[in-house]
Amino acid sequence: MKSSDTINPRRDCDGCPLVPERREFLRNAAALALGVISLSLPIRSVSAKVLSSAVGGRKVLSYPVPPVDGANIDRDNEVILVRYKDEVFAFNLGCPHQNVSLRWNETDMRFQCPKHHSQYQPDGEFITGRATRNMDRLAIRRDAANNIVVDPDTLYKSDEDLAQWNNAVVKL
Ligand code: FES
Repeated sequence: MKSSDTINPRRDCDGCPLVPERREFLRNAAALALGVISLSLPIRSVSAKVLSSAVGGRKVLSYPVPPVDGANIDRDNEVILVRYKDEVFAFNLGCPHQNVSLRWNETDMRFQCPKHHSQYQPDGEFITGRATRNMDRLAIRRDAANNIVVDPDTLYKSDEDLAQWNNAVVKL
């Protein structure tokens, strides 16, 4: 075998699986970059004033009325507060499918689950994906001081109690 016959792994791999692997690497890198961009979409954080409920001394959360449409996430209490078309809703942060923390896409004005890609309207209505119900709403009311009061321990699932789910809203 002459030295010119030495196998050049790069040249000999023209058209072999190495090329698609490289393309796939580049595609994955691009997807990762897009993922980072979507993670950097603006998410407003909100903090609750923690109150004691008159009923049984349970913890309830008090928030100012959100000034504009959009999602406000209280990570400490795993609550999402949404103002949308003159209504305010409170949701459990976890996706109703497998309780993965949902993300808010400000551009599309919808929630997205990073695990199986379920999507939901701002009012929690299911759009598409692997979940089988709407986002879980929390009991919500407006108090005399015009604050939004949320009971994080009272959760309504649309497939079990649709009437309560529909009523868990504050109309502005
Ligand atoms: S955990 Fe959200 S769709 Fe599966």
